[in-house]
Amino acid sequence: MYLNCEEEATLNGEFGTAKQKAMEILTALGDIYGADKLITVESSQVAGVSYKTIGEAGLEYLTQLNGRVAIPTTLNPMGMDKFKWKKLGISADFHAKQMEIIDNYERLGINSQCTCTPYYKFKPLRGSHVSWSESSAVSYANSVLGARTNREGGPSALASALIGKTPNYGYHLDKNRIPTLLIKVNFKLQDSDYGALGYIIGKLVGTNVPSFFFVSVPKNDDLKALGASMAATGAVALYHIHKIIERPVDIIEVERGDLDIYSFEEPDIVAIGCPHCSQSELIKIAKLLEGKKVKKQLWICTSREVAQMCPHIIKAIENSGAEVICDTCMVVSPAFEGRKMMVNSGKAFAYGPSLCKSRTFLCTTKGCIDAACSA
Ligand code: F3S
Repeated sequence: MYLNCEEEATLNGEFGTAKQKAMEILTALGDIYGADKLITVESSQVAGVSYKTIGEAGLEYLTQLNGRVAIPTTLNPMGMDKFKWKKLGISADFHAKQMEIIDNYERLGINSQCTCTPYYKFKPLRGSHVSWSESSAVSYANSVLGARTNREGGPSALASALIGKTPNYGYHLDKNRIPTLLIKVNFKLQDSDYGALGYIIGKLVGTNVPSFFFVSVPKNDDLKALGASMAATGAVALYHIHKIIERPVDIIEVERGDLDIYSFEEPDIVAIGCPHCSQSELIKIAKLLEGKKVKKQLWICTSREVAQMCPHIIKAIENSGAEVICDTCMVVSPAFEGRKMMVNSGKAFAYGPSLCKSRTFLCTTKGCIDAACSA
């Protein structure tokens, strides 16, 4: 991969060891994937934040890093709500370790907004290049916002953040963004159906770039759910909607019966907000909870920034006894582990059994609210 003089100097350690190590990661990736050069990225989003997932080794690695990020950078959810951690049953020891991780990221100049939906506050421009690592955010950036990012790992996103660049390969190039598979959905979808569809399709598409043809018209929240679950059960980082494919490709036809993954058992806990809820999803939940009281734990995950944009909606939800939690989620927080969990998200349904060791059921949003409000 070609490096200009400044990039060469960075690789030779002239701008400090943190940037040198970051450049080593980027050049190694560029060489492996055949990138011609480094390109400038507008922002970075770094995964590997929860103490539950990165543990002591991750904390130690971060503690040793010095330097400052070169571009606006945000974080994926951490393992707890910064303020309600005691309510979530998080131990003082976990809290201390988690805050050490956040302090280390802040020391590098990273905005400690911890969310998988950074685009509700900082939306990348169509056609711009970014370097994001949360797979659902990658899918949303590529497919809904029209920005360009590969599915970065935590270390490569952090390396990009420190340098402000990424190797020019993969989804940064036009040729890799062309649809290669047609998916015809022959019935109307609503609510959690999009997450259920992503769960099924993610397992089938391999490295293809799918183009979906729907009977119904999906909203951005639906596309967020679709992309998140496709990225959880498969490697899909980009899809298209109603994009005509000019050359012959395989077609997958989906019928209603194919989405038969919903089930019901009395849950211990109902968890909504994977990916983190948008304002419109919070409004929908508040309406479903109107005049009701929850009888089981109902935890709704969103970003602190979205929660701060609509305090009256949060209040309306919490009047029912439900809890809106920020900075974290049902998958990366230890608070959900080992519970019998009902979710409305295909991604949480995919990860619940393995990452939360939790018996997990997929239901509609209304089904989740009804289950939380029944004795
Ligand atoms: Fe976000 Fe956690 Fe789901 S990071 S996409 S809420 S697993």
